[in-house]
Amino acid sequence: MHAHVILAAGQGTRMKSRLPKVLHPLLGKPMLAYAVEAALALDPKRLIVVVGHGAEAVKEALRDYPVAFAQQKEQLGTAHALLQAEPLLGDFPGPVLVTQGDTPLLRPETLGALLKGVREGAGMALLTVELEDPTGYGRILREGEEVLGNVEEKDASPEVRAIREVNAGAYAFDGFLFQALKEVGNQNAQGEYYLPDLIAIYRAHGRRVAAVRGVAEEALGVNTREELARVEGILLAQLRSVWMRRGVRMVLPESIYLEPSVELAPDVTLWPGVVLKGRTRIGEGCEVGPYAVLEDTVLEPGARVLAHTVAQGAHLHPGADAGPFARLRPGAVLMEEAHVGNFVEVKKSVLHKGVKAGHLAYLGDAEVGEGANIGAGVITANYDGKRKHRTEIGKGAFIGSNSVLVAPVKVGDHALVGAGSVITHEVPSEALAVARSRQRNLEGYARKKLLEEG
Ligand code: UD1
Ligand code: CA
Repeated sequence: MHAHVILAAGQGTRMKSRLPKVLHPLLGKPMLAYAVEAALALDPKRLIVVVGHGAEAVKEALRDYPVAFAQQKEQLGTAHALLQAEPLLGDFPGPVLVTQGDTPLLRPETLGALLKGVREGAGMALLTVELEDPTGYGRILREGEEVLGNVEEKDASPEVRAIREVNAGAYAFDGFLFQALKEVGNQNAQGEYYLPDLIAIYRAHGRRVAAVRGVAEEALGVNTREELARVEGILLAQLRSVWMRRGVRMVLPESIYLEPSVELAPDVTLWPGVVLKGRTRIGEGCEVGPYAVLEDTVLEPGARVLAHTVAQGAHLHPGADAGPFARLRPGAVLMEEAHVGNFVEVKKSVLHKGVKAGHLAYLGDAEVGEGANIGAGVITANYDGKRKHRTEIGKGAFIGSNSVLVAPVKVGDHALVGAGSVITHEVPSEALAVARSRQRNLEGYARKKLLEEG
């Protein structure tokens, strides 16, 4: 059994943000959650996250994960950060894995290789990668197979800066760790306690240091917004590949954004510019039109969403369709064959089977019976300035264009509401309600007026 420590106390000043660096989102999840999930995949006996900058927010973001926290009050460097875990790990015989909260692409398999190094007798194992552009990373000094040490960018001579093998910031240590940490000094360009100094310290104590060579992409550290965007692009490409291999059709895949929490079925078609977030679930054969944004939304098999629809917390049953330009808000339920068209907004309302609301309507806090027809411009006036009220529309009812249904109000089954009505009282089943002033025609009035004005 091993323990795992994740260093996440730094501020990340180069992000130029109020948000602690490790909480910046990648596909809707904080960067740090990726490091935590990679750690958990190896089932550590103890998992400790060292927090400091924005500690309360970081703890809150990890509240659903089984982690313990150590506090680093002042950010004096990565070695100092790790030392803060000693009260929680001092008695631990090792091995101890250590990773950083800002390297979200590291895979559990790679961390496993570091553990293996220590289990096979190395005092310390670290991950190194070759980068095209090593700027910003610690450079690895070697003599053949042997790693001698690490030099941080700011302490490096031009010759050392030319080295392309870098420290990826992932390590495994034996039980000598905390003793070794106390020997780390801060005589360097940044006046910080550098964790990679442990390489030289372990060697000085005659303990072997093993270097595991990894894939460059995995080691990407996030220190800037550009690096954050790059990592997000990589995660996104991986996710799209997974779904395409499982049978999803993506037109212009590079333009499609989706989060790891989204579930897709085979033969789903996603058109360019689609954005899928949260607990969105899309059933077999469904099509999502260009530039639709769906969050926490369920499409049952055979449901359709057309271009530019924005849905949040909506549920579309088989054969239902929405858009183009529909707006579905939380609690919008479209039962079988229900249709919501252009510029129609639906909130907390159930549209039963075959309901049609084709154009420019607002349905909020409403229940619309099977087969009812909602004309263009119909509005449920659900808010009286203080509270929300419900509207009930019976099955087969026909609500004429531009009517206002002032809630709480009920329109009976198969009732008709004349266009332009303001309905404030119940309309009985099968009745016709007209609530607008009657049209008057004044014969010849317009002609007379025109003559007068010459
Ligand atoms: C670090 C390594 C560098 C390596 C690179 C890989 C050191 C000195 N340098 O550099 O060799 O190539 O990672 O990505 O270790 N942190 C704390 N407390 C602190 C300082 C940092 O918890 O006092 C945390 C940060 O939140 C971050 C991680 O440690 O998650 C790394 O710190 P960062 O300042 O980003 O180190 P780098 O300069 O990237
Ligand atoms: Ca970093």
